[in-house]
Amino acid sequence: MRKLFVATGNRDKLREIRAILGDSVEVVSLHDVPPYPEPAETGETLLENALIKAREGYARTGLPSLADDTGLEVEALGGAPGVFSARYAGENASYQDNVRKLLEELGSRPLIERSATFRCVMALVDGEREVWWEGAAEGVILSEPKGTSGFGYDPVFYSYELKKSFAQATAEEKNSVSHRGRALQSLVSEVQQLLSNIK
Ligand code: IMP
Repeated sequence: MRKLFVATGNRDKLREIRAILGDSVEVVSLHDVPPYPEPAETGETLLENALIKAREGYARTGLPSLADDTGLEVEALGGAPGVFSARYAGENASYQDNVRKLLEELGSRPLIERSATFRCVMALVDGEREVWWEGAAEGVILSEPKGTSGFGYDPVFYSYELKKSFAQATAEEKNSVSHRGRALQSLVSEVQQLLSNIK
């Protein structure tokens, strides 16, 4: 089976990526290769950051490398936290710190003013090509966390399609409509073909 390097050590993301790619490829992650410092995410867009991580992954492993960058864009906050979602409450912020900051920023705004979009860019770099796919999920930011599944902003992201928060959904439900699930679904049909063309 062809190997695909997924340039992340985030176990939450890896769980979702492995579940969606299934047994179409063997997923190798940052946990399976000799350690290297993850590159700084200095890009101004999700695509730039996804490419930075995928290029570094390919340079380090020589394997076709996939990297994801995700942002939560809240309309009332002018698209924040967006590309800064991981460090919204500071450099070493935890998932809970970021959620707390988001709820503080939105204060007591009514639901109608809490629209948000999760956006994910998945980039694949293999030395010959750089390709990417995007996925998005629409919803609103709840006034308090609901549910215990998922990770990150999932407890406060109410999905219009699921009619519940991502943290109240099963993994299958979230993956079927999520930003990451959608980006992966578009690539899964192409990835086998891309990998089979790689020397
Ligand atoms: P990253 O820069 O792509 O690692 O992701 C930015 C931040 O967005 C992460 O630290 C998480 O807090 C959050 N995030 C990414 N994907 C998800 C998701 O599927 N659900 C909830 N939060 C997410």
